[in-house]
Amino acid sequence: MTEPLAHRPLGRTGIEVGVLGLGTVKLGRNQGVKYPRDFDLPDDATVRELLACAADLGINLIDTAPAYGSSEERLGQLLPGPRERWVLCTKVGEEFATGKSHHDFSPAAVRESVERSLRRLRTHWLDLVLIHSDGNDLDLIAHSGALETLTELKRAGKLRAFGMSTKTLAGGLRAAECCDLLMVAWNLADESQLPVIDRCHQLGTGVLIKKALASGHAATGGDPVRAAITRLLGHPGVASLVVGTIDPAHLRANVAAARDAVSGECDPGSA
Ligand SMILES: NC(=O)c1ccc[n+]([C@@H]2O[C@H](COP(=O)([O-])OP(=O)(O)OC[C@H]3O[C@@H](n4cnc5c(N)ncnc54)[C@H](OP(=O)(O)O)[C@@H]3O)[C@@H](O)[C@H]2O)c1
Repeated sequence: MTEPLAHRPLGRTGIEVGVLGLGTVKLGRNQGVKYPRDFDLPDDATVRELLACAADLGINLIDTAPAYGSSEERLGQLLPGPRERWVLCTKVGEEFATGKSHHDFSPAAVRESVERSLRRLRTHWLDLVLIHSDGNDLDLIAHSGALETLTELKRAGKLRAFGMSTKTLAGGLRAAECCDLLMVAWNLADESQLPVIDRCHQLGTGVLIKKALASGHAATGGDPVRAAITRLLGHPGVASLVVGTIDPAHLRANVAAARDAVSGECDPGSA
């Protein structure tokens, strides 16, 4: 039985997301990543169990990307239905193949990437599509044509909302003005992007948080997981924390911490 998890509006997108989302790097890629420990990719049975657990816990937001190796393809095969119960977020501009990342933010590459994500995820629409920044946020916004292309793809009904996973303060502040939503890094060890989150809040731009647990480096000793989840979800403007895990026990603990952090907020089934 699905347990309730508080949902929040994602800025002005009209989309509601659970306060905790699932990050899926570790479903498809274990090379060139910065996690504290090496790991094997989980087998299909384990991924099915993880996704069933996420559904059961009331999670609706799943974050993936072509840069996460086989993540999109595996979600397309293994995510339980119905499609409408999920908010699928993917990215454009980076892909990971044969052990290396490649970047291409051109309009043609963005179109091709969105079509490939639709095929891999076995869906007729993407909910959220983000430019997967390589660090040159301002240049990508001003010169790549990627945002304009995503605007056209949104009009064409291929996606519901778009934005950028930013890496810089200046880029985040600019992106806040021209995107539906941003994905921003924030954790207790690095608060440098807080002005971006506050600017998004002022403008009504949706905010998803990445690296809330500092990619696992903040997940040892005491209860730093609970401390991070409580602090980040308490900040105005944050819609959801996209926390990565391939461990159902961690997922349950994270959802429990998120529930406690927002207790009193409405969940979708409580009306
Ligand atoms: N540029 C971008 O767009 C970008 C960059 C980075 C991340 N992201 C997105 O954001 C998501 C999250 O970022 P992230 O995966 O780098 O970092 P994160 O969410 O801060 O941390 C994930 C790590 O924390 C561990 N963890 C999770 N819950 C835990 C718990 N309760 N106790 C102990 N350890 C726990 C996970 O290991 P276990 O598997 O063992 O639980 C995993 O190694 C990614 O999956 C991705 O979807 C986007």
